[in-house]
Amino acid sequence: MLSFLNYLTPAVLSLLLATPYASATPYIQRRATVCNGHAELCDKSFGNVTFVGAHNSYAVGVNNLATNQDYDISQQLKDGIRMLQMQAHNQDGTIQLCHTACSLYNGGTLQDYLGKVKTFMDANPDEVVSLLIVNSDNLAPSLYDTVFKAAGVDTMSYAPDSASLPATGWPTLGSLIDSGKRLVTFLSTTADFTAVPYLIDEFTNIWETKFDVTDTTFDCEVDRTKGDSSTQMYLINHFLDESLAGVPVPNKDQANVTNSASGVGSLGLQVSTCATQHGRNPNFMLVDFYEFGGGSIFQVAADANGVTYSPTTPIATPIADGASASTTSSGSSNSAPADFRIAQSQLYAAFGAMLCVVFGALTIL
Ligand SMILES: *[C@@H]1O[C@H](CO)[C@@H](O)[C@H](O)[C@H]1NC(C)=O
Ligand SMILES: *[C@@H]1O[C@H](CO)[C@@H](O)[C@H](O)[C@H]1NC(C)=O
Repeated sequence: MLSFLNYLTPAVLSLLLATPYASATPYIQRRATVCNGHAELCDKSFGNVTFVGAHNSYAVGVNNLATNQDYDISQQLKDGIRMLQMQAHNQDGTIQLCHTACSLYNGGTLQDYLGKVKTFMDANPDEVVSLLIVNSDNLAPSLYDTVFKAAGVDTMSYAPDSASLPATGWPTLGSLIDSGKRLVTFLSTTADFTAVPYLIDEFTNIWETKFDVTDTTFDCEVDRTKGDSSTQMYLINHFLDESLAGVPVPNKDQANVTNSASGVGSLGLQVSTCATQHGRNPNFMLVDFYEFGGGSIFQVAADANGVTYSPTTPIATPIADGASASTTSSGSSNSAPADFRIAQSQLYAAFGAMLCVVFGALTIL
């Protein structure tokens, strides 16, 4: 700040000091030269960039069928995930991130989660990050606003000029970064532009392909939208499930194939199929167990964006089910697999029992 002040003429300085509230901002603009890791992205519209997203980013854990990620969002962001998708639930008046039900998997409070997002954003001022909140209990935007304020991320949240924008109507990454409004949050239901303009309605701005698929075709049909899919941004749900007693659970054994840059069932193939079908690349690509493939998902995004993927440090090590349940360090492989196979089958049984309880409760209700 001091060195910046040195460049100002005394006349401008006195004007600034004389009008601290009114006209200070225009003079203190910066100009980002690298945006989300690449100079080429600064002048690109947010609506023309392909971002990798973590499906159920808060549902973290190994050997647990209710989880979709092995590493928490701090590591996800560090490795290059730029959309964090989550399911928000109301638990006794607190917004918690739970998978299907808080009794099944509770990933903690939204406020704690947003605190981690803020830590990353503060330390990485040239990054634009998106949040996609599945509003499972249709909570009012004002309730989210309270939590965003408590976590200190409301002030870095981007509010568009209108409730919905075509893909071509979004600002550039550079201008989002320069303005300091570089957290872009989409809410699946109840968004109200006049009440909380930075909680952006998902489906009038983004359409999605289908999710929870169990075959590797990964088609590019429009599955959910509330707008004009020919002009909206779009999101592909690129995570493979398998059916366990009729219930879709993540197919982790296939994660390295699903996340690959090429081949049947790969992310790369779905991107090229969708680009051919819709004339442009997807904006968001949600994946499970993002570190499987050794960075292949980030390679796919870089190719889509026409930039070079060259991480300075390797991303996190994949943790196969049956391995150590550590989620903080790189996965260790010195555990006895047989023991963990048993643990996993016990877990399947426990999960099945839990589902019976859940469905039993539903039929009672
Ligand atoms: C996926 O992992 C399996 C088991 O480690 C390996 O045999 C296979 O070659 C991998 N496939 C890809 C596409 O990386
Ligand atoms: C961005 O624009 C280029 C040029 O029109 C296009 O090839 C690419 O698919 C677009 N990407 C997205 C995510 O819209």
